[in-house]
Amino acid sequence: MPIVKITNYVEYYRHLATSPDIHSISGRGDDVAATKYVNSRILAALDPSPDDVLLDVGCGDGCLLEMAKGRAKECIGVVPTGEEQSIVHAAVPGVRILVGLAQALPLESGSVSKVSCNSVFLYLESENEVLAAMKEIGRVARPKALIFIGEIPAADELTHFGKYKGDSVIGFLRHQLRQSGPRAFMGAAKTVALSSVGKATLLLNSATIFHASPERFIAMAEKCGLKHEAHFKHMRLDRSGTVVESPFRYSYIFSKNAPISPPSG
Ligand SMILES: C[S@@+](CC[C@H](N)C(=O)[O-])C[C@H]1O[C@@H](n2cnc3c(N)ncnc32)[C@H](O)[C@@H]1O
Repeated sequence: MPIVKITNYVEYYRHLATSPDIHSISGRGDDVAATKYVNSRILAALDPSPDDVLLDVGCGDGCLLEMAKGRAKECIGVVPTGEEQSIVHAAVPGVRILVGLAQALPLESGSVSKVSCNSVFLYLESENEVLAAMKEIGRVARPKALIFIGEIPAADELTHFGKYKGDSVIGFLRHQLRQSGPRAFMGAAKTVALSSVGKATLLLNSATIFHASPERFIAMAEKCGLKHEAHFKHMRLDRSGTVVESPFRYSYIFSKNAPISPPSG
């Protein structure tokens, strides 16, 4: 693979879907246990029953759908590209996998009763895109539906973790040297050399990450007709199997506001 320049996360995940390991589209590398842990917490929060239609927006490797299968009347996944759809469809039989964006869901209004959208909103390009996705989730949800929106950073993670954001090879090498020193620079230079002859992949990503404080995120959701039920720090498993609280990410539970019935009499 050569040097791949990415300007938005839909393209990033389209690229990951070409990897031989389906789990890479969970965004957690090959750490299957970490993905199972996160999705088991979502499943516990949504607690689907045989009457429910469960929708997973940005369903990654289909982990939540696989775990929820048989517990809900129907399980539906949405992914942004046909590349992801083909591999998730093959890996998780018995569920519908649709191509669409969180901002324009390919579903009828009021058709689902439980929604998960985990680790997706941070990849939307602007506050307007986030508002559009919230409205779409509200549109497809039935009144009183339960909605889990997870892993929203409260701060700019890319800056905090010193990740390179840009599309320049020189900029990337300079960043590695400044950020992590000569050893990391040498490693990065080797990756650049191998990538330029097609023997490795260098992803240069210039996309931004959405972040919002809990107060701001809840206000945005309530503007879109979602009622705040709870929010808490995101919990994840590290490589040693220890549960760790995320320093920045929060997860939220909302319900869809029921329409106000006119006063009788
Ligand atoms: C980090 S993975 C999360 C997967 C899964 N929800 C989980 O938590 O294990 C992000 C997923 O969101 C999808 N995605 C990215 N942008 C999207 C968008 N605008 N609309 C819907 N899905 C999107 C990616 O393709 C990928 O499947």
